[in-house]
Amino acid sequence: MSNQLEKVKELIALREQARLGGGEKRIESQHKKGKYTARERIAMLLDEGSFEEIDMFVRHRCTNFGIDKDSYLGDGVVTGTGTIDGRLVYVFAQDFTVFGGSLSETFAMKICKLMDQAMKMGAPVIGINDSGGARIQEGVNALAGYAEIFQRNILASGVIPQISGIFGPCAGGSVYSPALTDFNIMTRGTSYMFLTGPKVVKTVTGEDVTQEQLGGASIHSTKSGVAHFAVDTEEDGLNLIRHLLSFLPQNNMEEPPLMSCEDPIDRLEDGLNDIIPDDPNKAYDMYEVIGGIIDNGEFLEVHKDYAQNIIVGFARFNGQAVGIVANQPCKMAGVLDINASRKAARFVRFCDAFNIPLVTLVDVPGFLPGTGQEYGGVILHGAKLLYAYGEATVPKVTITLRKSYGGAYCVMSSKHLRGDINYAWPTAEIAVMGPAGAVEIIFAKEVAASEDPKSTAAEKEAEYKKAFANPYNAARYGYIDDVIEPRNTRFRIIRALQQLQTKKLSNPAKKHDNLPL
Ligand code: HXC
Repeated sequence: MSNQLEKVKELIALREQARLGGGEKRIESQHKKGKYTARERIAMLLDEGSFEEIDMFVRHRCTNFGIDKDSYLGDGVVTGTGTIDGRLVYVFAQDFTVFGGSLSETFAMKICKLMDQAMKMGAPVIGINDSGGARIQEGVNALAGYAEIFQRNILASGVIPQISGIFGPCAGGSVYSPALTDFNIMTRGTSYMFLTGPKVVKTVTGEDVTQEQLGGASIHSTKSGVAHFAVDTEEDGLNLIRHLLSFLPQNNMEEPPLMSCEDPIDRLEDGLNDIIPDDPNKAYDMYEVIGGIIDNGEFLEVHKDYAQNIIVGFARFNGQAVGIVANQPCKMAGVLDINASRKAARFVRFCDAFNIPLVTLVDVPGFLPGTGQEYGGVILHGAKLLYAYGEATVPKVTITLRKSYGGAYCVMSSKHLRGDINYAWPTAEIAVMGPAGAVEIIFAKEVAASEDPKSTAAEKEAEYKKAFANPYNAARYGYIDDVIEPRNTRFRIIRALQQLQTKKLSNPAKKHDNLPL
């Protein structure tokens, strides 16, 4: 055999060795836990045959505590490029079979190199996390590696989409990289995220808690909001990432991809003309409205199980991707509270950063009152949503379906926050507050002094309703551009978005803003 052939053979053998990661036994153990390996995950995520691995021959440099510096090719993380629906993406997947996916100096260098390249090319970064955290033997070098990644997450924020899949452990400071990315997807039953594990919790607070209770997918997708999506299987998670990317541009200088659309633009949705209950205290389901107006009823909801009083997610109108924000009258009457404000603010800012127009559907009785909310800082959190809408320069189309009261009127993409096109259904009620509350305040003395307070209050409520429980008072001042027939909403939104395609608007130059945190 020639020298060259021998070298080629050696290369092939080294590649085979690298592809085995921590070895057959550990791969088997990974499979036994119901988890795929890093390379299997990448293969499922990307278009078939598109993966180009880089840094397969990187090895860690640490020899502390007797670890062999020649031990594993690739050092616990698989990195490279590929395509999703033909579009370039950068991907890294932590390999739990090598030192439990723990992060070393060279492991971090591989991720940083990938992120730097993604920034130069303007393409999304997808990271699959499955790791025991900082590689303990490496000490401060592992911590330094994390911080280098965080710095890149920060600089990439709002420039390229960053998506994190959490498919195994993600604990300690390592949670901060996913937290800095745009979307976190967690697998139920096999993933967890927390700053300090159950043992430390027990020592410090005395609480007995399992890993699942402390930081499983269901907790983070319902209570904390750390996870934007919870999925049952890794396949579901990887498909979701592909689906999510179909709504997003490659970077902040591009528009989201335009899809072909078979759903007629002038499709009338007759049911919407009769969806609002006569009783203003009765709810209806906002999902019916969303499903009725978007292309083919296809809605990718974000934070589905968290702060359900507001709905956010991606959809298309005539093939154009939009972000939908909608109050949900079915949950807590669609009131705005701390969690709903934070959830929607983050979504609005994401859409604005990536040139995705916003369609807002309003039916909101106001902000949730009470000490719980005030002590929790609802003023600041509500201000986040206000701020997000006010700073957003993407096309903003707003439809007021029913209630739009008080501060919530201002917040929900009103004309005054540079809403471009604001329509209302004839059932809209735009006022400082609802009739009962208003009468209690402005007619308190008259009602108390009357012989029949109940009927006087009812009379005054009727008077107030006539004046304010309609869209025409706001339309009179031009705050509502038109009052539209509900069944025509899809067509009117599509027309509005078409008109706004050439929108150009920028905010004053500044170092950065000072969003109320
Ligand atoms: C080095 C590690 C490691 C780590 C796991 N391993 N975590 N090696 N550094 N952090 C190794 C194990 O020694 C083992 O090696 C292999 O990975 C698999 O680990 P197991 O414990 O056998 O697996 P399992 O039972 O599934 O448990 C997984 C685990 C556990 C829950 C993640 O390994 C664990 O608790 N690890 C430590 C977690 C931790 O405290 N990390 C530091 C967090 S602080 P062998 O050779 O036997 O296969 C942190 C700070 C970051 O990350 C700060 C950034 C700012």
